[in-house]
Amino acid sequence: MLTKEQKRQLIREALEARAYSYSPYSEYRVGAALLAEDGRIFRGCNIENAAYTPTNCAERTAVFKAVSEGCRSFLAIAVAGGKGEKPSGDYAYPCGVCRQVLREFVDPSKFLVICARSEEDCREWTLDEMLPESFGPAQLEKG
Ligand code: THU
Repeated sequence: MLTKEQKRQLIREALEARAYSYSPYSEYRVGAALLAEDGRIFRGCNIENAAYTPTNCAERTAVFKAVSEGCRSFLAIAVAGGKGEKPSGDYAYPCGVCRQVLREFVDPSKFLVICARSEEDCREWTLDEMLPESFGPAQLEKG
């Protein structure tokens, strides 16, 4: 269970991570903050590319940063996105690829996805709710 203050901090860090978004093509700026089981928070932003398809989402940037530093267990992620200085319009929901990448390293029944427009304005789901009947590492063990 995350405390209210932990959630607010995660949102704050996702909003701060947005500042580094490299998104000259879509102008859709996304920031993410991933809370590890050991308490560390890894931030990420979306990184676009002139060839378009190499673009990396904010959530995956955060996961890849963490895993490449030896951290593989996570409790929650906050995501904030939209055009303009502050997130506006609908919440930024993690894309299908990012949901699957998160699935690899979490307990989907417990892992929280928090989509935020501000510290006060957010919604949350478990990963199971966002990616039902998902394919995970255990599947490969059953043959
Ligand atoms: N984007 C993310 O960073 N996270 C998502 O889950 C959805 C989409 C980025 C990718 C691209 O740079 C921009 O938003 C528009 O699709």
